[in-house]
Amino acid sequence: MNKILCTLLALAGMAGFNPAVAGAEEMRMEGHHHAMEMTDTRTSLGLSPQMKQHQLANMREHVAAIRSIVGLMAESRFEEAAGIAHAKLGLTPEMQQMCGMFGNDAFKALGLAFHKSGDELGNALHTGDVNASLRALNRTMDYCVTCHATFRQ
Ligand code: HEC
Repeated sequence: MNKILCTLLALAGMAGFNPAVAGAEEMRMEGHHHAMEMTDTRTSLGLSPQMKQHQLANMREHVAAIRSIVGLMAESRFEEAAGIAHAKLGLTPEMQQMCGMFGNDAFKALGLAFHKSGDELGNALHTGDVNASLRALNRTMDYCVTCHATFRQ
């Protein structure tokens, strides 16, 4: 770098016109703004490490069930889809017990309503009506969205 360029850059820096510095400041501000938006305001269930693993494994089964139901519907295999809805998303004694294990009444109520909707999804699938089944699937998935927006581990 020649001397003149060095001097110019030094002067620009002193005068506060250094574009590199201005850019860095902007990025810091953006990062800060982003961090504010990303603050997690959901209610924590305060789960133990063991309960966390248990819940996540259960959740992964939920998403796998939805995938299977959509795939089976596409093949017009409604009876099999209904079976999965009742067994994996419906209000089985196991799910009923699971929803009560988190020590939060609002979570329990949402969980139980979700599993009831899983049985209604099963009933809709039994009819073989595509639109009715999709509407029921939409209602069930509405619970996924609502609960995830409200609670975290
Ligand atoms: C009553 C509440 C509730 C309902 C209903 C619910 N979930 Fe969850 N789910 C949770 C919570 C709490 C977590 C943990 C989220 C966190 O801590 O950020 C979670 C996490 C997950 C995860 C992440 C799993 C992992 O291994 O990281 C998936 C996938 C998931 N849920 C799928 C679903 C699907 C699909 C549905 C609906 C068919 C559903 N959940 C319904 C409460 C719920």
